[in-house]
Amino acid sequence: MNKIGVFYGSTVGKTKSFVEVLITHLEKENYEVRDVKNGIKGIENFNNLILISPSYGMGELQEDWKSLTSELEKIDFTDKNVAIVGLGNALRHPTTYLGAMKVIYDIVLKKGAHIIGSSPIEGHIFEHSPSIINNKFLGLALDEVNQHEETPIRMERWLKEIKKEFK
Ligand SMILES: Cc1cc2nc3c(=O)[nH]c(=O)nc-3n(C[C@H](O)[C@H](O)[C@H](O)COP(=O)(O)O)c2cc1C
Repeated sequence: MNKIGVFYGSTVGKTKSFVEVLITHLEKENYEVRDVKNGIKGIENFNNLILISPSYGMGELQEDWKSLTSELEKIDFTDKNVAIVGLGNALRHPTTYLGAMKVIYDIVLKKGAHIIGSSPIEGHIFEHSPSIINNKFLGLALDEVNQHEETPIRMERWLKEIKKEFK
């Protein structure tokens, strides 16, 4: 398997903590992890990518990701497997739940990415999410604020699926 690039942004730290757990489920020699506050230089060198953003504002990208939008839009994602992860708060933001996932999705899809790793909406209590396609979240949907205890099982189930698709 080619190296997996794990790129995340985190303002308050929940996403950072999640990433620390996530990488314990990846083989040591097989991934590189980057906090996007340090940029996304080299992202084009990975054929397997996990892109992770919490939602801020009204379902928008986390601030570091946001400042990288135009750079991200210039990357050619053709033939790359891209799995997206979103963290949000369904109780506080029930109508823009996990919106940042859709922002990443739209950018990378337009640039040819093969997007993998949808996840079920069952178990999430919210009114509306921009990040639902064909009745599923387009990536791994997590609410570390209200459903922290669900995260390990959601993550493990999802990882099993995306590992099958990474090449
Ligand atoms: C100002 C603000 C706006 C937010 N907007 C949304 C939102 O629109 N949708 C959502 O699902 N979560 C929203 N959240 C919740 C965050 O995504 C959630 O707390 C996340 O775990 C933060 O991740 P971080 O600690 O890595 O920064 C918002 C949080 C704040 C403080």
